[in-house]
Amino acid sequence: MTAHPPPLTLPAPDMFWDPAAAVIDPDIPPRVAADPLYRWVLGHQIAFGVWRLIADNLAEIASGGKPDFDPAWLFDQYSILLLYTGSFTEIVYRERIRPSMMAADPAFSGRWGRDYHRVLRMLEAAKPHDTVLRDALLRNRRVHIAVARRLVPEGGSLLRDAGRASAPVTDAEFDIFDTYFGVRRAPCDRRGFLRSLASRAQAAHDDLVETPPAARLRGQVAVAPDGLHQPLLDLAATIAEAANNPKENV
Ligand code: HEM
Repeated sequence: MTAHPPPLTLPAPDMFWDPAAAVIDPDIPPRVAADPLYRWVLGHQIAFGVWRLIADNLAEIASGGKPDFDPAWLFDQYSILLLYTGSFTEIVYRERIRPSMMAADPAFSGRWGRDYHRVLRMLEAAKPHDTVLRDALLRNRRVHIAVARRLVPEGGSLLRDAGRASAPVTDAEFDIFDTYFGVRRAPCDRRGFLRSLASRAQAAHDDLVETPPAARLRGQVAVAPDGLHQPLLDLAATIAEAANNPKENV
């Protein structure tokens, strides 16, 4: 068994799905009980997949098409994933998670997520007036702050501590982030991607059953008042259903 989930295949953010590139990511092995990095990496991988869906669906709406997922629902899924991903103690974060990111780069930051930049561009283009989406964005911001405050009560980030907060993100930094979280950039078909995402959401649920968080998570009430287990199962089921939907890989 490995400590990390296997690589997630994703196309570059601005590349379309490629029906000819049938990607089959390997099944997700169970977590090695002692290593919280599994949760940290798996949760991020699923979040990147959800970001991809958010950007695709915002683009679909902007071009007058009909989205297959509601972006507000997707943002709430991202919030649930923030909670899952950070569902260990401050000590674990300080002693195991943060040093592993510092080893990859002393300024390592969430800003280096390639797919997130496309989400920001699509939000900018869509300028959502839809209050349902705006409320989901607000909930997401609050959940991120709650997770960050719980895991780093003294505040600050590696990026800020390294004095690089205002610099534009470089390709090398995007690559460091992809490598750390096991993202393989390659042409990919939409169905294969959705299957891989669904199996990761199921694995996140199984991981929580195996190793539940020690305490109720701050920020959880807004998006998952009854806990994270059922929302993760629902996410897995919804994505698996979309994978079986005949909508082609555009
Ligand atoms: C739980 C998983 C997490 C994910 C998926 C995540 C994701 C992100 C993303 C995408 C950004 C860029 C947002 C933007 O610039 O608009 C970001 C920024 C940031 N995140 Fe997180 N984050 C997580 C956990 C944390 C934690 C534990 C902290 C605690 C310090 C944190 C602190 C920050 C800060 C301060 C920023 C602003 C940019 C910087 O100074 O690095 N995040 N995060």
